[in-house]
Amino acid sequence: MSGAPLVVLVGPMGVGKSTVGQLLAERLGVGHRDTDEDIVTAQGRTIADIFVDDGEPVFRELEKDAVRTALAEHDGVLALGGGAVLDADTRALLAAQRVVYLSMDVEEAVRRTGLNAARPLLAVNPRKQWRELMEARRHLYEEVATAVVATDGRTPEEVTQAALDAL
Ligand code: S3P
Repeated sequence: MSGAPLVVLVGPMGVGKSTVGQLLAERLGVGHRDTDEDIVTAQGRTIADIFVDDGEPVFRELEKDAVRTALAEHDGVLALGGGAVLDADTRALLAAQRVVYLSMDVEEAVRRTGLNAARPLLAVNPRKQWRELMEARRHLYEEVATAVVATDGRTPEEVTQAALDAL
């Protein structure tokens, strides 16, 4: 497939970008793509392994390339990793896209992902790290978003419906 994605999903880890992305793609009758999965497939190793073996800066370069490629190739629903918006070039590319920011508050984030050791950015002190991550990134998600959908207390189906309503 080629062309611009119908919709790009951004937001923090664990907010449900992959689950909602798949539901959204089904409802819209289009394909679903996830840049984290693209990186894992291309590298043949997990994201946690990339962080441990090569460090976060190398992961961010891989992510930047994966996002640029997916934006150029995919015309369905595209979910980005939670930190993709840290890159200024990526944010500039997203300015031309329809971008839904799936948001959640910090306590919800800790509940959903706090004990998940597979997420390298939360390994030490999940609540403190979540607070810092959200403070550093919230404005970046808001900057690229054309719509914001709050996920707190909502099921993936309800979030999907809210995202469809926001399109
Ligand atoms: C990250 C989010 C993860 C993954 C990596 C870094 C982040 O993606 O890209 O662990 O910096 O927020 P998900 O948002 O899909 O979990």
